[in-house]
Amino acid sequence: MKNTQAPRAHWSSRWAFILVTIGSAVGLGNIWKFPYMTGSNGGSAFVLIYLACIVGIGVPLLMAETMLGRRGQASPVASMRFLADEAGAAGLWQIIGYIGIVGALLILSFYSVVAGWVLEYTWRAAAGFRALPKEAFGEAFGALLADPLRMIAWHTVFMAMCAIVVLGGVTAGIERANKIMMPALFAILLGLLGYGAVAADLPASFRFLFHFDPAAVNRQVLLAAMGHAFFTLSLGMGAIITYGSYLGRDVSIPRTCLYIAGADTLVALLAGLSIFAIVFAQGLEPAAGPGLILQTLPLAFSQMPGGHAVGVLFFVLVVFAAWSSAISLLEPGVTLLTERLAMTRRAAVLVLCLGVWLLGVAVALSFNEWSAFKVFGLGIFDLLDTLTTKMMMPLAGFLIAIFTAWVMKRAHVEQEIGLRGSHFTLWFNVVRYLSPVAIFVIFLNVIGVIG
Ligand code: TRP
Repeated sequence: MKNTQAPRAHWSSRWAFILVTIGSAVGLGNIWKFPYMTGSNGGSAFVLIYLACIVGIGVPLLMAETMLGRRGQASPVASMRFLADEAGAAGLWQIIGYIGIVGALLILSFYSVVAGWVLEYTWRAAAGFRALPKEAFGEAFGALLADPLRMIAWHTVFMAMCAIVVLGGVTAGIERANKIMMPALFAILLGLLGYGAVAADLPASFRFLFHFDPAAVNRQVLLAAMGHAFFTLSLGMGAIITYGSYLGRDVSIPRTCLYIAGADTLVALLAGLSIFAIVFAQGLEPAAGPGLILQTLPLAFSQMPGGHAVGVLFFVLVVFAAWSSAISLLEPGVTLLTERLAMTRRAAVLVLCLGVWLLGVAVALSFNEWSAFKVFGLGIFDLLDTLTTKMMMPLAGFLIAIFTAWVMKRAHVEQEIGLRGSHFTLWFNVVRYLSPVAIFVIFLNVIGVIG
């Protein structure tokens, strides 16, 4: 059975798919979150568990999601409906598509606010960070959080940047933007690494990331690493299903997914190596938490030789990473509205951006005017973060694993994924047993049932 929907836009080549999916995967997660999580979770212990989670859970699910999208050839909702029909299962499985699309838009609302901070810091870096005492950098970030209009202005700029790309469509918009941003991102990253090797303390950074200290392993670290493996590969939120739905039939899914996961991991490690090299060379604190790149690094940039240029390049790198990820959070909703409600792409982009923008305004206000407003003890930002990355993502990932390995016909899965013999059996059993169990354990811990 073939999905008989209208012909669909497709990436211009296998490399285009690899590039856009790397664009989705490599984001604030790699350059902002990974380094600070590593710094606050004991360095190498976190890194090694994270790597194990990428290989053991992340890559198999990345392959599964790409496979679902390519077989579905439609929005995550319609793809899931088609695949459920094909398997003779209930239409309720469409819920995977809805959770993903709604989750992606919720993530975008706070992702865009954080990306707005990065835009502000790109601006500040261009002006040059003045050499001030350490506390001044904390205060400068605090001043931004206390200034709702400034945050909303940058959030608006970032949402407009996303809208412009997604308005361009699959090849002329998303593919083209990534073809410019991704090579630039890699070039800047290598430049930073070179700088780290010459002017900063790369050996100390290397030791911090890779010298394994078993004493630092605990459940907290384990859960943080698993959750991050999910987030960094853009899993569970319809993004990969959507990008996979624009993928041609002639492409090998396992191989492309290995490239994507490999590149994503490489970027996280290289970013971590360069950032900690700078942090250690300046004698700063690696466990600075979320403020690591916005407070600690600017302090370092203000004191290092060539710090002005390096600072600008660094923040441009983060903007590119965030931008290419954010468009993959918007596109799943756009495909749904254009298909379901027969909206034009332009109308769909405008409606969704407006909604996400409004929610983002509430996120920005949650740091200042509305900071007293709490639901379950969480402010709006933390609430959205918890709801999406700690609940909806694992839930969707769990359902995707179950659907792929327990609901779909094994022969269809085997044919679509393009793995043979023992490779197929290994992958299939990982998705059938290991992934759901692992996700279930994280999930229970998160909602505190056994935690
Ligand atoms: N992977 C991106 C990052 O690391 C974030 C992201 C983009 C994402 N698209 C997603 C996360 C879809 C979950 C689902 O920053």
